[in-house]
Amino acid sequence: TWEHVQQAPPDPIIGVNDSYRADTDPRKLNLGVGAYRTEEGKPYVLRAVREAEAALAADPAANKEYLPIAGLPEFNRLSRELALGPSHPAIRDGRVATVQALSGTGALRVGAEFLAQHLPPGQPRVVYLPNPTWGNHKTIFGRAGMQVREYRYFDAKTRGLDFAGMCADLSAAPPGAVLLLHACAHNPTGVDPSPEQWRQLLALTQERKLLPFFDSAYQGFASGDLDADAASVRLFASAPGPQEMVLAQSFAKNMGLYGERAGALSVVCKSKEVAGRVESQLKLVIRPMYSNPPMHGAAIAARVMADPRLNALWKEELAGMAHRIKAMRQALYGQLVARQLPGDWSFVLKQIGMFSYTGLSKAQCEVLTRKWHIHLTMDGRISMAGLSAASCPYLAEAIADVVTN
Ligand code: LMR
Repeated sequence: TWEHVQQAPPDPIIGVNDSYRADTDPRKLNLGVGAYRTEEGKPYVLRAVREAEAALAADPAANKEYLPIAGLPEFNRLSRELALGPSHPAIRDGRVATVQALSGTGALRVGAEFLAQHLPPGQPRVVYLPNPTWGNHKTIFGRAGMQVREYRYFDAKTRGLDFAGMCADLSAAPPGAVLLLHACAHNPTGVDPSPEQWRQLLALTQERKLLPFFDSAYQGFASGDLDADAASVRLFASAPGPQEMVLAQSFAKNMGLYGERAGALSVVCKSKEVAGRVESQLKLVIRPMYSNPPMHGAAIAARVMADPRLNALWKEELAGMAHRIKAMRQALYGQLVARQLPGDWSFVLKQIGMFSYTGLSKAQCEVLTRKWHIHLTMDGRISMAGLSAASCPYLAEAIADVVTN
């Protein structure tokens, strides 16, 4: 029956873990998948998470019943409040429909399925993604039945934002098209619009009647401040209108809950009545796929957000992780400059969030992996969170080798 099945290619991001595992060289370094590591190169479980887990385990009222189809209500409420701010008028008016999701990917997929089914009849099912974007975006929206188009985003010459190109492409988008935006710390480039550019993008979105769909995978992880990293989402949600938008949230990075798959999808609607109907349809997307979401990660996240002491501890640890990544940018930059490499490497300092987008070619990346045992995605993205003070000189030496030979 399955003799005809073709071998699928390895995932360009998750597949890097396999090549890393298979590498027996002691110098090997995994800078592929975006996952935080300590200075010792170890995965990090936040203390706030450990304490929340201990409290949950000790709670005699806890059980393993099914969650509702839409997930843990407390988690959903706290998630949307975290993104929009607790006193946001859209929340107060009850016009945000939120469902728990299998982290950011699950939120994007449920959102994409809902859009493919429920955009107004006669309206094109088109989503505009930045070029480049997180590789999974294209597959998620494409598999859900949306037509995928790209807008210009990264300027390889300046290693910054091609804002003029972005605006030109979005000005040509048909009304009603979905516009995917990275809320902060754009993956893979680490290049974000400035506050003024965000304002212009909002104006353009309204003028062209585009539907913003924010992917918020790094709130608090980029700057160390949960509110600062939500600025773009809040700007759009607060636009007069009332503004409609879609928001996918992940707690993988900012709470270190990668494998727990804790995330949320919110649809900001024009009224409470519409939000109720939207939620009913989101449940209809979820029920035939996986019935209802897993409890543990959402219960941890809800506890960390609700408990003032754990919340304060979380913010402290979050700032600590963001700080360590920034320190790695400084360290790598210093090492590169010390080697007097050709070109301007200050982008390492300027880029935001978990990744640095080096501009190294696929051939150079292949040498990094083959010769230097540095495992990264072939688009030249390196996870700064996987670096340590000890490994920075080695990476700089390897980069110097591939750019000068
Ligand atoms: C990444 O881009 O490395 C992360 O978002 C992890 C993933 O699922 O790809």
